[in-house]
Amino acid sequence: MEVLIMSINWDVQDKSVIITGGAGGIGLGMATAFVKAGAKVLIVDVNDSALTQAKKDLASFGTIETLKADISSVTVDQEIIETAVSKFGSLDVLINNAHASKQKPFTDLTDDDLALSFNTGFYPTWHLMQFAHPYLKDSKGCVINFASGAGINGQPTQAAYAAAKEAIRGLSRVAANEWASDGIRVNIISPIAETEGVKQWHKAAPEQYDQLVNSIPLHRLGDPETDIGSVALFLASSASSYMTGQTLMVDGGDIKLR
Ligand SMILES: NC(=O)c1ccc[n+]([C@@H]2O[C@H](COP(=O)([O-])OP(=O)(O)OC[C@H]3O[C@@H](n4cnc5c(N)ncnc54)[C@H](O)[C@@H]3O)[C@@H](O)[C@H]2O)c1
Repeated sequence: MEVLIMSINWDVQDKSVIITGGAGGIGLGMATAFVKAGAKVLIVDVNDSALTQAKKDLASFGTIETLKADISSVTVDQEIIETAVSKFGSLDVLINNAHASKQKPFTDLTDDDLALSFNTGFYPTWHLMQFAHPYLKDSKGCVINFASGAGINGQPTQAAYAAAKEAIRGLSRVAANEWASDGIRVNIISPIAETEGVKQWHKAAPEQYDQLVNSIPLHRLGDPETDIGSVALFLASSASSYMTGQTLMVDGGDIKLR
Protein backbone atom coordinates (compact mmCIF):
# COMPACT_ATOMS: atom_id res chain seq x y z
CA MET A 1 0.00 0.00 0.00
CA GLU A 2 2.91 2.30 0.83
CA VAL A 3 4.22 1.82 -2.70
CA LEU A 4 0.75 2.46 -4.15
CA ILE A 5 0.37 5.77 -2.28
CA MET A 6 3.82 6.96 -3.30
CA SER A 7 3.40 5.97 -6.96
CA ILE A 8 0.06 7.69 -7.58
CA ASN A 9 0.29 11.39 -8.40
CA TRP A 10 -2.16 12.87 -5.89
CA ASP A 11 -1.28 16.43 -6.99
CA VAL A 12 -1.39 17.70 -3.42
CA GLN A 13 2.25 18.80 -3.62
CA ASP A 14 2.67 22.12 -1.74
CA LYS A 15 -1.04 22.30 -0.95
CA SER A 16 -1.88 23.81 2.42
CA VAL A 17 -3.88 21.47 4.66
CA ILE A 18 -5.48 21.82 8.10
CA ILE A 19 -6.33 18.65 10.05
CA THR A 20 -8.17 18.99 13.37
CA GLY A 21 -7.37 16.21 15.83
CA GLY A 22 -4.26 15.63 13.71
CA ALA A 23 -1.95 14.47 16.51
CA GLY A 24 -3.59 11.08 17.02
CA GLY A 25 -5.67 8.32 15.47
CA ILE A 26 -7.05 8.85 11.97
CA GLY A 27 -5.98 12.51 12.02
CA LEU A 28 -2.33 11.54 12.48
CA GLY A 29 -2.67 8.86 9.78
CA MET A 30 -4.01 11.47 7.35
CA ALA A 31 -1.31 13.98 8.37
CA THR A 32 1.33 11.32 7.63
CA ALA A 33 -0.19 10.54 4.22
CA PHE A 34 -0.43 14.24 3.22
CA VAL A 35 3.09 15.15 4.42
CA LYS A 36 4.55 12.16 2.55
CA ALA A 37 2.64 13.27 -0.57
CA GLY A 38 4.33 16.71 -0.37
CA ALA A 39 1.53 18.78 1.19
CA LYS A 40 2.14 21.41 3.89
CA VAL A 41 0.15 20.32 6.92
CA LEU A 42 -1.04 22.14 10.05
CA ILE A 43 -2.25 19.73 12.70
CA VAL A 44 -4.48 21.16 15.40
CA ASP A 45 -4.94 19.21 18.61
CA VAL A 46 -5.67 19.65 22.30
CA ASN A 47 -2.95 17.13 23.24
CA ASP A 48 0.33 19.02 23.54
CA SER A 49 2.67 16.04 23.96
CA ALA A 50 1.07 14.20 21.03
CA LEU A 51 1.58 17.33 18.88
CA THR A 52 5.27 17.47 19.82
CA GLN A 53 5.70 13.76 19.05
CA ALA A 54 3.86 14.05 15.71
CA LYS A 55 6.03 16.96 14.61
CA LYS A 56 9.16 15.01 15.56
CA ASP A 57 7.98 11.90 13.67
CA LEU A 58 6.81 13.70 10.51
CA ALA A 59 9.39 16.48 10.12
CA SER A 60 11.77 14.25 8.13
CA PHE A 61 9.06 13.58 5.50
CA GLY A 62 8.17 17.23 4.75
CA THR A 63 6.38 20.31 6.07
CA ILE A 64 4.46 19.85 9.32
CA GLU A 65 3.30 22.62 11.67
CA THR A 66 1.36 22.27 14.90
CA LEU A 67 -1.17 24.36 16.82
CA LYS A 68 -2.37 23.49 20.30
CA ALA A 69 -6.05 24.36 20.51
CA ASP A 70 -9.26 23.00 21.98
CA ILE A 71 -11.64 23.21 19.04
CA SER A 72 -14.64 23.26 21.37
CA SER A 73 -13.68 26.86 22.22
CA VAL A 74 -15.35 29.23 19.72
CA THR A 75 -12.49 31.70 20.01
CA VAL A 76 -9.96 29.41 18.27
CA ASP A 77 -11.68 28.87 14.90
CA GLN A 78 -10.42 32.03 13.20
CA GLU A 79 -6.94 31.56 14.72
CA ILE A 80 -6.74 28.04 13.25
CA ILE A 81 -7.51 29.23 9.72
CA GLU A 82 -5.24 32.28 9.99
CA THR A 83 -2.35 30.22 11.36
CA ALA A 84 -2.38 27.98 8.29
CA VAL A 85 -2.69 30.94 5.91
CA SER A 86 0.10 32.89 7.60
CA LYS A 87 2.45 29.88 7.69
CA PHE A 88 1.71 28.50 4.22
CA GLY A 89 0.36 31.52 2.30
CA SER A 90 -2.97 29.90 1.37
CA LEU A 91 -5.50 27.25 2.37
CA ASP A 92 -6.38 24.39 0.02
CA VAL A 93 -7.81 21.62 2.21
CA LEU A 94 -9.75 21.78 5.49
CA ILE A 95 -10.19 18.42 7.24
CA ASN A 96 -12.64 18.50 10.16
CA ASN A 97 -11.66 15.29 11.92
CA ALA A 98 -11.64 15.77 15.74
CA HIS A 99 -14.79 14.77 17.62
CA ALA A 100 -15.35 13.73 21.26
CA SER A 101 -18.48 12.16 22.72
CA LYS A 102 -19.86 9.94 25.51
CA GLN A 103 -21.81 6.73 25.01
CA LYS A 104 -24.96 6.44 27.14
CA PRO A 105 -28.43 4.95 26.83
CA PHE A 106 -30.81 7.46 25.22
CA THR A 107 -32.79 8.20 28.39
CA ASP A 108 -29.62 8.87 30.45
CA LEU A 109 -28.24 11.50 28.09
CA THR A 110 -27.96 15.03 29.45
CA ASP A 111 -27.69 18.40 27.75
CA ASP A 112 -23.99 18.38 28.74
CA ASP A 113 -23.48 15.11 26.83
CA LEU A 114 -25.11 16.64 23.76
CA ALA A 115 -23.01 19.79 24.24
CA LEU A 116 -19.76 17.77 24.32
CA SER A 117 -20.57 16.09 21.02
CA PHE A 118 -21.87 19.20 19.25
CA ASN A 119 -19.14 21.51 20.65
CA THR A 120 -16.28 19.26 19.52
CA GLY A 121 -17.88 17.91 16.32
CA PHE A 122 -20.66 19.97 14.79
CA TYR A 123 -19.87 23.59 15.76
CA PRO A 124 -16.11 23.54 14.98
CA THR A 125 -16.87 21.93 11.61
CA TRP A 126 -19.41 24.63 10.81
CA HIS A 127 -17.34 27.58 12.12
CA LEU A 128 -14.08 26.44 10.53
CA MET A 129 -15.87 26.02 7.19
CA GLN A 130 -17.25 29.57 7.47
CA PHE A 131 -13.84 31.10 8.28
CA ALA A 132 -12.12 28.96 5.63
CA HIS A 133 -14.59 29.83 2.84
CA PRO A 134 -12.85 32.94 1.40
CA TYR A 135 -9.48 31.19 1.33
CA LEU A 136 -10.91 27.99 -0.19
CA LYS A 137 -12.68 30.13 -2.80
CA ASP A 138 -9.31 31.68 -3.72
CA SER A 139 -7.56 28.31 -3.94
CA LYS A 140 -10.51 26.34 -5.45
CA GLY A 141 -9.95 24.08 -2.47
CA CYS A 142 -11.98 21.47 -0.65
CA VAL A 143 -13.39 20.37 2.69
CA ILE A 144 -13.34 16.83 4.06
CA ASN A 145 -15.69 16.22 7.00
CA PHE A 146 -16.10 13.13 9.15
CA ALA A 147 -19.22 11.02 9.68
CA SER A 148 -19.74 7.68 11.39
CA GLY A 149 -21.55 4.41 10.83
CA ALA A 150 -22.89 4.97 14.36
CA GLY A 151 -24.89 7.89 12.99
CA ILE A 152 -25.89 6.30 9.70
CA ASN A 153 -27.03 3.06 11.40
CA GLY A 154 -28.32 4.60 14.64
CA GLN A 155 -26.06 2.61 16.93
CA PRO A 156 -27.50 2.13 20.45
CA THR A 157 -25.92 4.37 23.16
CA GLN A 158 -24.61 6.78 20.51
CA ALA A 159 -27.46 9.31 20.26
CA ALA A 160 -25.35 12.39 21.10
CA TYR A 161 -22.62 11.35 18.67
CA ALA A 162 -25.02 10.17 15.96
CA ALA A 163 -27.00 13.42 16.06
CA ALA A 164 -23.87 15.57 15.65
CA LYS A 165 -22.43 13.30 12.92
CA GLU A 166 -25.63 13.34 10.85
CA ALA A 167 -25.87 17.12 11.33
CA ILE A 168 -22.34 17.36 9.89
CA ARG A 169 -23.45 15.32 6.85
CA GLY A 170 -26.43 17.64 6.43
CA LEU A 171 -24.42 20.86 6.48
CA SER A 172 -21.80 19.28 4.21
CA ARG A 173 -24.42 18.57 1.52
CA VAL A 174 -25.77 22.13 1.73
CA ALA A 175 -22.25 23.61 1.50
CA ALA A 176 -21.48 21.28 -1.43
CA ASN A 177 -24.46 22.74 -3.29
CA GLU A 178 -23.89 26.38 -2.26
CA TRP A 179 -20.11 26.39 -2.78
CA ALA A 180 -19.91 24.42 -6.02
CA SER A 181 -20.09 27.70 -7.96
CA ASP A 182 -17.11 28.94 -5.90
CA GLY A 183 -15.09 25.93 -7.05
CA ILE A 184 -15.07 24.40 -3.54
CA ARG A 185 -15.90 20.71 -3.09
CA VAL A 186 -17.17 19.26 0.21
CA ASN A 187 -17.12 15.52 0.85
CA ILE A 188 -17.42 13.24 3.85
CA ILE A 189 -15.53 10.15 5.03
CA SER A 190 -17.23 7.60 7.27
CA PRO A 191 -14.34 5.43 8.51
CA ILE A 192 -13.54 2.41 10.58
CA ALA A 193 -9.91 2.40 11.71
CA GLU A 194 -7.56 0.76 14.16
CA THR A 195 -6.59 3.77 16.31
CA GLU A 196 -4.81 3.72 19.69
CA GLY A 197 -8.22 3.96 21.37
CA VAL A 198 -9.48 0.95 19.43
CA LYS A 199 -6.27 -0.96 20.27
CA GLN A 200 -6.90 -0.33 23.99
CA TRP A 201 -10.53 -1.41 23.59
CA HIS A 202 -9.25 -4.59 21.86
CA LYS A 203 -7.20 -5.42 24.97
CA ALA A 204 -10.09 -4.65 27.33
CA ALA A 205 -12.82 -6.39 25.32
CA PRO A 206 -11.21 -8.93 22.95
CA GLU A 207 -14.46 -10.82 22.25
CA GLN A 208 -16.33 -7.66 21.23
CA TYR A 209 -13.35 -6.65 19.09
CA ASP A 210 -13.33 -10.03 17.32
CA GLN A 211 -17.08 -9.72 16.80
CA LEU A 212 -16.60 -6.34 15.14
CA VAL A 213 -13.78 -7.58 12.89
CA ASN A 214 -15.83 -10.62 11.87
CA SER A 215 -18.82 -8.43 11.03
CA ILE A 216 -16.76 -6.33 8.59
CA PRO A 217 -16.80 -7.91 5.10
CA LEU A 218 -13.06 -7.26 4.60
CA HIS A 219 -12.40 -8.75 8.08
CA ARG A 220 -10.07 -6.08 9.35
CA LEU A 221 -10.07 -2.54 10.68
CA GLY A 222 -8.66 0.18 8.46
CA ASP A 223 -5.18 1.61 8.79
CA PRO A 224 -5.32 5.36 9.60
CA GLU A 225 -2.61 6.25 7.07
CA THR A 226 -2.85 3.73 4.23
CA ASP A 227 -6.63 3.11 4.25
CA ILE A 228 -8.19 6.36 5.49
CA GLY A 229 -5.33 8.74 4.59
CA SER A 230 -5.28 7.44 1.02
CA VAL A 231 -9.00 8.20 0.54
CA ALA A 232 -8.50 11.67 2.05
CA LEU A 233 -5.67 12.22 -0.48
CA PHE A 234 -8.01 11.13 -3.27
CA LEU A 235 -10.72 13.57 -2.08
CA ALA A 236 -8.17 16.40 -1.91
CA SER A 237 -6.73 15.69 -5.36
CA SER A 238 -7.98 16.46 -8.85
CA ALA A 239 -8.69 12.71 -9.25
CA SER A 240 -11.98 13.43 -7.42
CA SER A 241 -12.72 16.78 -9.11
CA TYR A 242 -16.19 15.59 -10.25
CA MET A 243 -17.27 14.57 -6.72
CA THR A 244 -18.95 16.77 -4.13
CA GLY A 245 -21.51 16.30 -1.35
CA GLN A 246 -20.71 12.58 -1.15
CA THR A 247 -20.26 10.31 1.86
CA LEU A 248 -17.50 7.77 1.24
CA MET A 249 -17.77 4.66 3.38
CA VAL A 250 -14.16 3.71 4.19
CA ASP A 251 -15.18 0.88 6.47
CA GLY A 252 -14.20 -2.43 4.88
CA GLY A 253 -17.67 -2.78 3.35
CA ASP A 254 -19.55 -2.53 6.66
CA ILE A 255 -22.26 -0.15 5.38
CA LYS A 256 -23.43 0.10 1.78
CA LEU A 257 -25.09 3.46 1.13
CA ARG A 258 -27.86 3.51 -1.47
N1 LIG B 1 -11.81 5.28 14.69
C1 LIG B 1 -12.89 4.86 14.07
O1 LIG B 1 -13.03 3.66 13.77
C2 LIG B 1 -14.00 5.81 13.70
C3 LIG B 1 -15.25 5.30 13.32
C4 LIG B 1 -16.24 6.19 12.91
C5 LIG B 1 -15.97 7.56 12.88
N2 LIG B 1 -14.75 8.03 13.29
C6 LIG B 1 -14.52 9.48 13.23
O2 LIG B 1 -13.23 9.72 12.65
C7 LIG B 1 -12.63 10.87 13.25
C8 LIG B 1 -11.30 10.50 13.88
O3 LIG B 1 -11.52 9.48 14.82
P1 LIG B 1 -10.35 8.86 15.74
O4 LIG B 1 -10.84 7.54 16.21
O5 LIG B 1 -9.05 8.97 15.05
O6 LIG B 1 -10.37 9.91 16.97
P2 LIG B 1 -9.50 9.89 18.32
O7 LIG B 1 -10.44 9.77 19.47
O8 LIG B 1 -8.41 8.89 18.21
O9 LIG B 1 -8.95 11.40 18.43
C9 LIG B 1 -8.38 12.10 17.40
C10 LIG B 1 -7.62 13.32 17.96
O10 LIG B 1 -8.56 14.37 18.28
C11 LIG B 1 -8.01 15.11 19.36
N3 LIG B 1 -9.07 15.88 20.01
C12 LIG B 1 -10.09 15.41 20.77
N4 LIG B 1 -10.83 16.44 21.24
C13 LIG B 1 -10.27 17.57 20.76
C14 LIG B 1 -10.57 18.96 20.90
N5 LIG B 1 -11.61 19.37 21.65
N6 LIG B 1 -9.78 19.88 20.28
C15 LIG B 1 -8.71 19.47 19.53
N7 LIG B 1 -8.37 18.17 19.37
C16 LIG B 1 -9.14 17.23 19.98
C17 LIG B 1 -7.39 14.04 20.25
O11 LIG B 1 -6.41 14.60 21.13
C18 LIG B 1 -6.79 13.08 19.23
O12 LIG B 1 -5.43 13.39 18.95
C19 LIG B 1 -13.67 11.38 14.27
O13 LIG B 1 -14.48 12.35 13.65
C20 LIG B 1 -14.49 10.15 14.59
O14 LIG B 1 -15.75 10.47 15.07
C21 LIG B 1 -13.77 7.19 13.71
